[in-house]
Amino acid sequence: MEIREVAVVGLGTMGAGIAEVFARAGIGVVAIEVDAAALGHGLGILEGSLAKAVSRGKLTDAQQAEIWGRIRPAASFSDAARVDLAIEVVPERMEIKRQIFGELDRVCSPEAILATNTSSLSVTAIAAASKHPGRVIGMHFFNPAPVMRLVEVVSTVLSGSALPGQVADLARRLGKTPVQVSDRAGFVANALLLPYLNHAVKLLEAGYASREDIDTAATDGIGLPMGPLALLDLIGLDTALSILQVLQAEFGGPRYTPAPLLRRLADAGRTGRKAGCGLYDYASGARDDGDKAGNEAASSSPSTVTLIGSGRAAEAEFASEVAAAGINVTRNPAHPSDLIVIVAGPDEQVLSAAIATGRPHEAVGLHMAAPGLAEVVSTYMTDPPYAAAAAALAERLGKKTVHTPDRPGFLVGALLYPHLGDAVRMVQDGYASVADVDTAMTLGCGYPQGPFQLLDKAGPAAVLDRLRGMQAGYGDPAFAPPPLLAEHAATGIGFTG
Ligand SMILES: NC(=O)c1ccc[n+]([C@@H]2O[C@H](COP(=O)([O-])OP(=O)(O)OC[C@H]3O[C@@H](n4cnc5c(N)ncnc54)[C@H](O)[C@@H]3O)[C@@H](O)[C@H]2O)c1
Repeated sequence: MEIREVAVVGLGTMGAGIAEVFARAGIGVVAIEVDAAALGHGLGILEGSLAKAVSRGKLTDAQQAEIWGRIRPAASFSDAARVDLAIEVVPERMEIKRQIFGELDRVCSPEAILATNTSSLSVTAIAAASKHPGRVIGMHFFNPAPVMRLVEVVSTVLSGSALPGQVADLARRLGKTPVQVSDRAGFVANALLLPYLNHAVKLLEAGYASREDIDTAATDGIGLPMGPLALLDLIGLDTALSILQVLQAEFGGPRYTPAPLLRRLADAGRTGRKAGCGLYDYASGARDDGDKAGNEAASSSPSTVTLIGSGRAAEAEFASEVAAAGINVTRNPAHPSDLIVIVAGPDEQVLSAAIATGRPHEAVGLHMAAPGLAEVVSTYMTDPPYAAAAAALAERLGKKTVHTPDRPGFLVGALLYPHLGDAVRMVQDGYASVADVDTAMTLGCGYPQGPFQLLDKAGPAAVLDRLRGMQAGYGDPAFAPPPLLAEHAATGIGFTG
């Protein structure tokens, strides 16, 4: 069935973008809103987006006029009588969605496809309330819809067998990449993203690391486009909380239990950027980034360093970088020095090596989490000025630094490994394929590499080890490695191969 005209119901943040995507692909759009003012506002968003594309040279005036000409503002639902597909993009409340589907059932032809852009409601429950549940499907776009290439096509047990394929073809025609899944809370992208974001808030709340360091660990340590706390402020803490609650109701378990801090901030109306404050404060127009830079600048780099390590390549490399910077290096902790640095591997702990030096208060671990990022590891015996000196040393060598306690995974691993474990569990459950997961996270969340590409880079055995270390260290079932990961570790075969 060829899709020539669609109805977009609700032209808010997402709907205006979705209408633009259809119109740009040459498909006529009937734009439906709750009243004339809301319709005017939605069309204004769309018009502004097209004007921006023209000013950036991405559209000609003629193309803009052609796209704009495909948008038909509707006076009522009856204007959707001849559309081939209608998609609702109204607020995330079941009673509103059901009311919209009731209207669409009434006016649309029985052959028309009815789609929902819901992020977290049950597509099945929406379909079940329709007169023709076989034609109801989830078509989940990402924000901003004109830019993000992922569309999750969500079928239910009630969907007609040809429907998911048809809607996936339509998504391709729109220039998007579809991932076809069945109806399960959070689909692929949100089900993986939200527990990771939630865990970042739990680390912050536990005093494990500062907000800035948690975000830097994700961007500079993992290579993600944005830190989890900054991303939560962008998504909205209230939105994140409600998706987590849906995930928790469906799957249970500690990964989905909302961090108390997340709940409190949402309750307090500190919902993120839209409120001017959330995990960060945006009141002054710019984000407050604490006084970390000032503190660190106050500490000067040491002139003599005692270097301890277990003989890994990273240690030799670090030693030569330190020497090249004109800093004296000694290997004997009995000799005087300004600082003891223990170059730690990702699976090592620092405390026992620190105690063995006889000067544990002056000993600080450094873990090179990525080429440009050093994790500064304080044991519970480290005196803070020495941690600051170690950070100043790493920064003198051109590295960014984050502070972390001497706990399994340090900071980057504490964020990343459970997230990879969740991805493996989703594949193990038979819900999505490895390729689907990587596509969803790269095209839906802007990851430069999918979780399985990241996992294979570290190696399944290493990820298994780290998760076991975290599970043993914390006794938290959230870190239990999935059996499928253990199987890949045992065979040495990667997931993406
Ligand atoms: N915002 C996101 O990042 C995002 C991403 C993916 C999916 N979604 C989903 O998209 C949907 C819409 O989210 P949003 O952020 O665009 O919300 P929004 O509040 O920005 O927009 C909703 C629009 O629906 C309109 N509306 C309300 N009742 C209506 C009615 N009875 N008839 C017609 N229009 C009506 C409102 O006037 C508003 O313009 C939700 O289901 C949400 O879960 C949102």
